[in-house]
Amino acid sequence: MSYYVTTPIYYVNGEAHIGHAYTTFIADMLARYKRLCGEEVYFLTGTDEHGQKIEESARKFGKPTQQFADEISALFRNLWDEFGISYDQFIRTTDKNHMAGVQKAFETMYAKGDIYKGNYEGHYCVSCETFFPETQLIDGEFCPDCGRSTSIVKEESYFFKLSAYEQKLLEYYDAHPDFILPKSRRNEVINFVKGGLNDLSVTRTSFSWGVPLPESLGDNKHVMYVWLDALLNYITALGYGRDEEKMRYWPAQMQLVGKDILRFHAIYWPAFLMSLGRPLPKHIGAHGWWTRDGEKMSKSKGNVVSPKEVADAYGLENLRYFMMREVPFGQDGDFSQRAFIDRINSDLSNDLGNLLNRIIGMSGKYSDFVIDSKDVLNYHASEMAEVEAVLDGVERYLDEVQTHRFLEELWKLFTIGNKAIEAHAPWVKMKEGKTDEALAVVALVANILAKASVLLHPFMPKTTATIADALGFNIDTKAYTDLVKNGTLLPTFTIKKIPPLFPRIEAPLMEQAPDAQPNEPEAAKPAPEKQKASQPSEKEQDNLITIDQFFKTELKIGTIVEAEEVPKSKKLLKLQVDVGEASPRQVVAGIKEFYSADSLVGTQVCVVANLKPAKLMGMLSEGMLLAAKDDEGLCLMRPESPRKAGSSVG
Ligand code: MSP
Repeated sequence: MSYYVTTPIYYVNGEAHIGHAYTTFIADMLARYKRLCGEEVYFLTGTDEHGQKIEESARKFGKPTQQFADEISALFRNLWDEFGISYDQFIRTTDKNHMAGVQKAFETMYAKGDIYKGNYEGHYCVSCETFFPETQLIDGEFCPDCGRSTSIVKEESYFFKLSAYEQKLLEYYDAHPDFILPKSRRNEVINFVKGGLNDLSVTRTSFSWGVPLPESLGDNKHVMYVWLDALLNYITALGYGRDEEKMRYWPAQMQLVGKDILRFHAIYWPAFLMSLGRPLPKHIGAHGWWTRDGEKMSKSKGNVVSPKEVADAYGLENLRYFMMREVPFGQDGDFSQRAFIDRINSDLSNDLGNLLNRIIGMSGKYSDFVIDSKDVLNYHASEMAEVEAVLDGVERYLDEVQTHRFLEELWKLFTIGNKAIEAHAPWVKMKEGKTDEALAVVALVANILAKASVLLHPFMPKTTATIADALGFNIDTKAYTDLVKNGTLLPTFTIKKIPPLFPRIEAPLMEQAPDAQPNEPEAAKPAPEKQKASQPSEKEQDNLITIDQFFKTELKIGTIVEAEEVPKSKKLLKLQVDVGEASPRQVVAGIKEFYSADSLVGTQVCVVANLKPAKLMGMLSEGMLLAAKDDEGLCLMRPESPRKAGSSVG
């Protein structure tokens, strides 16, 4: 059986961060696991290099676009190589073969009547490579996803008949309940499709850094929309439309994505494949987002966690373990050094590392490091039955990418081992002259460690190889079959004395995240309306926060002491708001359509008081007003009765 696993291809507009590393670690772990099981694995990763965003980034750096893409793509590839990521192919969307494959796919869809020519006009966010309807823009201008300024783009465009696939997609989700993993994400996709799909604009004329249309169309004004180009990488990598020998790996068993790009993969991608008459991937696995110390990572805040920095400080395999153990697949996770250190000290050092040290120590004392499994079943049949039960049940978690559950279950083996040592106290048995019994406990634990190492191998390849070496075997498919599947015990061997694998860590090894820097503009922002767009835009995020995160927001009652219109702005008013400090704060708010400046003076409002100051139309804004918005307009949130300026809200 073959197993094709993919990561998203990463944009070449910045270096890899731990979010990218996380997907790549999971894909690498699955690839290694399936190889261990004896399956024929193909693991694809790579970089996404076309589109206006990349073109603009290159311009900012004053570099030719291709050179810029080459450099950043190499950074990704070098990092994965340094991390020992076991990919079989690293694809780049600027590869000639890929581009030819995309053109071939376009031609096929066009010939089928699934692509037609029309016109598109809309507000375009370059950063998100997406059109947004006016109703969704903030202050009529800013992108509801990233907050950056949008521009109006009107262009002739080719459209993909996505609407024609609505029904077929719904039928597919229905017939394949585990197509989207975790299953909890399935409904949001289904509801989106049920809400109606508009045809998708799949070409652009406003820039040229993209795959040209196939020559057969005789239309060289257009380049392909970056998402059409990018999604097709998963089959062009296998030689789609060229030499299709590797297409035997298709359909992919597992396509890993972040939740923000699930919709592209669970709606647009399957529709493209249906149009091409190709089978759909077996699973799309969507993971959550990583934050740092509870905050969203962003370049402007300067708090992006560099995977290289963390791996250098704490060890690559510790990082792999932490990320895959800490967070249930699909949920958001927080990177904090405290949580990381706790995992290393408790799971790796205390549970796993100590167990190994203990049997090295005991076998050294009792049997000159020789370990023999001959009496394990005589004295420890019940413990071995428990071990077998864990081994029987644990692997299914990997089929659903439940990495944290898998590791949690696997760790039960170490509990069995530790309990056996406590219960049978080999040192007492030795004193009582029951040498066989004492050595049987040591051998039981050695076997537990051996079996656990095999299954832990995909997560921590080097560390487990070291453990296996100490226990006198190699981790490979044979070891997997014997030790995990067939219940075989280790032959007699001499354990190697190795230094502790997981020294305890007492204090953080990296500097804390720098304080956030001034960021995107903020003003009274009506909440963006729910997205319902024809464009694949929605880099989705869960909106659940913890109470601690909520209390990070300082809300205060403020009294507006001055208010004036901002000339030339349809939306903005400039306010001076007393929030109980030495002098009033200046807040620039997008409420002019709903309130006159005069009517506000002397009234009270609710102010977000600890926002980083930002500039709006060149004016400093030192806070944000809370407001509610519906079809009837916007209304400010105010105290029911007057409060002292500066009173806290919450
Ligand atoms: N190029 C597109 C993907 C095209 S796939 C045909 C893209 N690139 S990206 O570089 O912006 O993001 C790549 C992946 O990184 C996405 O799956 C995204 O979810 C993930 N992450 C980006 N930031 C992240 C976190 N903070 N945490 C976890 N993953 C995050 O989108």
